[in-house]
Amino acid sequence: MTATGAIPATAPTGPSGAAQRHRVALHGVTHVYAGRGGDVLALDHVDLVIEPGEFVSVVGPSGCGKSTLLGLIAGFHRPTRGRVTLGDEEIRGPGPDRGVVFQQPNLYPWMSVRENVALGPRLRHVRRAQRRAIADRLLALVGLAEFADHATYELSGGMQQRCQIARALANDPEILLMDEPFGALDALTRERMQDELLTIWRDAGQTVLFITHSVEEALYLGTRVLVMSPRPGRIVLDQPVPFPPHERDRALREHPEFVALRARIGRELGLA
Ligand SMILES: Nc1ncnc2c1ncn2[C@@H]1O[C@H](COP(=O)(O)OP(=O)(O)O)[C@@H](O)[C@H]1O
Ligand SMILES: [Mg+2]
Repeated sequence: MTATGAIPATAPTGPSGAAQRHRVALHGVTHVYAGRGGDVLALDHVDLVIEPGEFVSVVGPSGCGKSTLLGLIAGFHRPTRGRVTLGDEEIRGPGPDRGVVFQQPNLYPWMSVRENVALGPRLRHVRRAQRRAIADRLLALVGLAEFADHATYELSGGMQQRCQIARALANDPEILLMDEPFGALDALTRERMQDELLTIWRDAGQTVLFITHSVEEALYLGTRVLVMSPRPGRIVLDQPVPFPPHERDRALREHPEFVALRARIGRELGLA
């Protein structure tokens, strides 16, 4: 088994066709939030390269800068120093090539489930019939086909999270940025969602950046786990995960190598 042996160097293109996958890179990135109570150094000299198709999990203590890292790639903020790039281009703002999923579903309650999922295509002026087809395909993918015409507040937390993932996928993003997306779900739903996410990723080959508090989840999903230090965030461990994507199943969680890696990362986080 090799760290990335099972990951295609050139990821397959998504449903909309010719999506070219690009490398994400942070070059000497420092991020400072200026506040009334003084400046907060959130990230300190972070260098990071994420290859197309990688599934990178990020763990680290609360407040260490994980969401800041994700927000820089999403284009929500610009780094105080250094550069964040996608391919050869500097990231200057959000775009449909990067889909974001948060811990708290932020669906629009005045739209149906289907309308929420079709929102991105609508903003890109995709025709009604086509965006309906996109939404219905994704709703089927995340197991919500029967709920397309429901209001979002009629869905359970796990279903809302699925809807959010479907909405993020509707632009066929080359990168999925997920900030503790399963953090609010019960254990059973969470494991089910992990498997669904793996299926989606194996099929479409997006690049994924996945933030979580759970070392187990980070290892189960990732092809690579980044461990961050307490603030100011730095990457203190960049751990390849040697398990092929198709071998991620219940048995893996008990595998001695999995258990050993979980302990190693836990020690790095100061949990053991
Ligand atoms: N908009 C902001 N203004 C000021 N400080 C912020 C802001 N956003 C985050 N911070 C601070 O930056 C640090 C890193 O935050 P964040 O990236 O959200 O950490 P994490 O996601 O790892 O919990 C924290 O100390 C947080 O309080
Ligand atoms: Mg956060």
